[in-house]
Amino acid sequence: MRVAVIGAGVIGLSTALCIHDQYHSLVPSLELAVYADRYTPHTTSDGAAGLWQPYVHDDGNLQEMLWNKETFDYLLGHLGSLEAKEMGLFLISGYNLFKQPVPDPSWKNIVLGFRNLTPKELELFPGYSYGWFNTALVLEGRSYLPWLTNRLTQRGVKFFHKKIQSFQEVFAQGADVVINCTGVRAGDLQPDPALQPGRGQVIKVRAPWVKHFVITHDAEAGTYNSPYIIPGSEVTVLGGVNQPGNWSEENSAQDHKAIWEACCQLLPALQKAKIVQEWSGLRPVRPSVRLEREAVRRGRARSEVIHNYGHGGFGITIHWGCAMAAARLLGSVLQEKRLLGPPQSRI
Ligand code: FAD
Ligand code: BEZ
Repeated sequence: MRVAVIGAGVIGLSTALCIHDQYHSLVPSLELAVYADRYTPHTTSDGAAGLWQPYVHDDGNLQEMLWNKETFDYLLGHLGSLEAKEMGLFLISGYNLFKQPVPDPSWKNIVLGFRNLTPKELELFPGYSYGWFNTALVLEGRSYLPWLTNRLTQRGVKFFHKKIQSFQEVFAQGADVVINCTGVRAGDLQPDPALQPGRGQVIKVRAPWVKHFVITHDAEAGTYNSPYIIPGSEVTVLGGVNQPGNWSEENSAQDHKAIWEACCQLLPALQKAKIVQEWSGLRPVRPSVRLEREAVRRGRARSEVIHNYGHGGFGITIHWGCAMAAARLLGSVLQEKRLLGPPQSRI
């Protein structure tokens, strides 16, 4: 049973790890391979700040919130382990700021210590009259992707560095099931009008005195189109822009100026920070994550593709819940092929 994962961002690598952990002992014939044209540190997942935070005004997608929660609780469980440092995982607290009152987010009971801001706290942020404080997690892609890659390599998973032109190409190489984790470029393999890039640009600075995240929400600007500051283990990430339909991965001087000025206005001491990197990346934006099985024809044969893409600006936030769900879908394929007993027969 050959399973090919296309994509080596946070979604592809975590899905591969989840599949291996769940099935390698139950299905001895399972062979797992990862195909990608970009590996760490060159994926979208590497550039993201890695803050666990779903969208503030989510559209009420209960399934996605369960995957977010599953991911938060899974990561929280790793905090006390020796692996946390290598994973790039740590707790972080901070502020979400608004210009008018808004309803509490649906994730208020997932994060730790969620509360409204006091008037004294709001005085710290002129121009903002409402806000929340909570503790969440950062999972830095620059550490987490190499950590996932090492674990997969130790388990004998093979990696191929190539651009895939079609699902048929992977089936022709012997795959029985393809897991599609191609992020924003999923449309190259199968047209998907619902998927579009949400271009982002960030400035990474050295500002070790900044200890809290600050995310502003300007109702007119839209999600992540107003300034945010997210401290990491080595650099602090300043954002942000969110430009639907813009495929450019070039840094824009205009966006740089807008981000720098807005973040320095929010936290004036940032003017003293040294800029160490500038980065632009494309969020795989979709009305909802595509996580489903699809039967595809191969002449007379029928093969399976499991799609897992379209995680917008919350791929790190949701990845583990989605990896588990994709692995369960593969479990249903393995059952149908009589390679695996029903779930209740497994210990
Ligand atoms: P990617 O990381 O883009 O990986 C896609 C993989 O598919 C790559 O390996 C690529 O090579 C491969 N691929 C695609 N097509 C092909 C093909 N035809 N052949 C071979 N390989 C192919 N999320 C959070 O949760 N927290 C944050 O703080 C956060 N901050 C962000 C900040 C910015 C500025 C941006 C842009 C995004 C941010 N995100 C954040 C969102 C997050 O980065 C994405 O949701 C996540 O990286 C998507 O992961 P992915 O694995 O689907 O995609
Ligand atoms: C972003 O997509 O830019 C983003 C996502 C989560 C937290 C902060 C920023």
